[in-house]
Amino acid sequence: MSIIFNEKQKTFSLHTKNTTYQMKIGNLDYLIHTYYGPSIPDEDVSYQIKQYDRGFSGNPIESIQDRTFSLDAQPQEFSTYQQGDFRTSSMEVVNADGSMVFGGKVKDYRIKTGKFTLDGLPTCFATEKDTVDTLEITLADPVSLVEVTLLYSVFEEKDIITRSTLVYNAGSGTIHLRKIMASCLDFTNGSDKDIVSFPGRYGQEKQVERMCVNHHIHRFESGRGSSSHQQSPYLILCDHDATEDFGTCYGMAMMYSGNFLAEVELDQYDQLRVQMGINNKNFNFLLEAGERFTAPEVVMTCTEKGLTGITHIYHDFIRSNLNRSKFMHEERPILINTWEAVFFDFDDKKLVEVAKAAKKMGVEMLVMDDGWFGKRDNDKSGLGDWFVNRNKIHCGLHDLVKQVNELDMKFGIWFEPEMVSVDSDLYRKHPDWAMEIPGRDAIVSREQLALDISRRDVQDYLIESVNAILDDANIAYMKWDINRSVTDLWSNALASERQGELAHRMVLGLYRIMDGIIKTHPDILFEGCSGGGGRFDLAMLSYYPQYWSSDNTKPIDNLKLHYGASFLYPPCTQGAHVSDSTAYVPFDTKAVIAMGGTFGYELDATHLEPEILAGCQKMSKRFKKYFKLISEGDYYRLTNPFSTGNFTAWQSVSKDKKESLLSIVITNQTVNGPQEYVKVKGLDKDLQYTVSGDIAGSVIVSGAALMRVGIPVPRDVQDYSAFQIEIKA
Ligand code: GLA
Repeated sequence: MSIIFNEKQKTFSLHTKNTTYQMKIGNLDYLIHTYYGPSIPDEDVSYQIKQYDRGFSGNPIESIQDRTFSLDAQPQEFSTYQQGDFRTSSMEVVNADGSMVFGGKVKDYRIKTGKFTLDGLPTCFATEKDTVDTLEITLADPVSLVEVTLLYSVFEEKDIITRSTLVYNAGSGTIHLRKIMASCLDFTNGSDKDIVSFPGRYGQEKQVERMCVNHHIHRFESGRGSSSHQQSPYLILCDHDATEDFGTCYGMAMMYSGNFLAEVELDQYDQLRVQMGINNKNFNFLLEAGERFTAPEVVMTCTEKGLTGITHIYHDFIRSNLNRSKFMHEERPILINTWEAVFFDFDDKKLVEVAKAAKKMGVEMLVMDDGWFGKRDNDKSGLGDWFVNRNKIHCGLHDLVKQVNELDMKFGIWFEPEMVSVDSDLYRKHPDWAMEIPGRDAIVSREQLALDISRRDVQDYLIESVNAILDDANIAYMKWDINRSVTDLWSNALASERQGELAHRMVLGLYRIMDGIIKTHPDILFEGCSGGGGRFDLAMLSYYPQYWSSDNTKPIDNLKLHYGASFLYPPCTQGAHVSDSTAYVPFDTKAVIAMGGTFGYELDATHLEPEILAGCQKMSKRFKKYFKLISEGDYYRLTNPFSTGNFTAWQSVSKDKKESLLSIVITNQTVNGPQEYVKVKGLDKDLQYTVSGDIAGSVIVSGAALMRVGIPVPRDVQDYSAFQIEIKA
């Protein structure tokens, strides 16, 4: 059993292969956090927690004789609220009597076999090969009768511990939940830590920032209704001196696609608190007597193997424990998407022409992007009207798909289910379904409004209308888009005192819609999108095996996008296409960069120069050859494209270390510069490897030499040229 309750010590120790997580029922039955880090035995390490008489840090009255016991200076497992702990709180609640306090003490606990699930929220799961145990600890406030149950599932072999929080109103009146965190992690000393976060913006998602924690409360959050382009519900906490290969690092990633909040606080005594949960802005959830609230799941890990160690743990976990789609492990079809090639300007004939031309490029699937439904010749109208526009698709969808299938190609389609255009039949029929606050002008974005997907009738309409299209033809792929942030939080279906529940209820509504469409179509490959990577999070990846990384298809920018995304997401989840943008970057380089993701095309196949067509054929074939290695192998970041180097390099290594693909893009060839080298990683030092590919000839050399001497970076080549080097035992 990976979970041990030691009666004598009153400790709960959670052991994975390489880590230990420990809590203790401490003084006055408060639950104290004692440790998370590399493995230690099942011994009580609470000796590290020293107590002093601290000024202005109050003491529970029960410990009046002991002025040294204050919750303000205790590492807590889930912070109390208004009980003398002045740091960021894990929960804020207005009790039935109006008091704002939660003094949770351990009431009971349960240890179970298997993984927890959460009502209405996606969760990761155990496979047949995993040993997973679950611990539930209930903290109860003796006066308000509010209970918080902390959930922990321990994936022993995976070095993963996942957490969530349930709030139960065991009292007789209504309470208002104003803030709820899914995880809280306290360290007795955190001043030696850095935080790595992934901020961005539209077109520049998942950039990387690393900063040392200081005596501030750092808030990483989204209030946009989705996890957003701007921040990610994912943080890495690492030693100041941690590198890609060494140092203790912690990962925390939340499975939630709505308004999230991550807080990092270094307190007055250099204790560190890191929390993740639902954003408390615009949040006020009523719980009547007997009702429960469920927070999302946070997936945590820890390793001493640096940032790459964190990446490998998450990549393996995402590939095996997050998404049940068969496509996660299957070879994905190389697709061509019509968007950047023709935008809204197409009809059925044009699409068949594109499919025919794309077939020659080595493409296996045509994706009809935005513009095939309702009245939609630009982005000003039609969203919500999910029926085929016969003025464009004259032959009907079924027939169009048949024509494409006859070319031995699959067919994919685009939807943006959660939105409605002001100019649409749906809005004219159901204005009350759109998010607008009575008596106010709504904020429009791309001339569209968000649908109130907290409503059951709206959810049912979307499930039925999208499924009707998916079932009408032989659809092999669906791109699920969302192209605006949510404003005007108001639901006609909720009482006024419940409007603060709406943002979260919309996320639950989204998951119900996705269950109704995605789970009922196991043979369709789903790709998520939100104007690029605006909702690229773990919860979404539990539904879609891949996510469109960015609307920015400029290849050199994509080096940074892939770099940032790679900290959490494996390449097989990152949608990436070769487009016509950036003419000065050679075609092969664009293809090499797109192979850092799912690889596909987003260009007009009907107007290709012969050398580009030849390039497509060559690179489509190459991607097929390396698909398994890239998608299932271990990923290594060899350079940081945010620094001022002359090249960017990354590498995939097969699990048996017998095969590797090194990719190098020259970003700036300095005149008469030094010879540079790439020291590859992850090989077996004792094996002999043949090194070949986009270099003259081939050499046979040991793994030790390749990792310690390195491979010379090609010189005297064009800026932006790219090289793929195969390393095979
Ligand atoms: C978003 C997507 C694009 C494309 C357009 C269509 O911006 O990210 O790839 O699908 O919508 O409107």
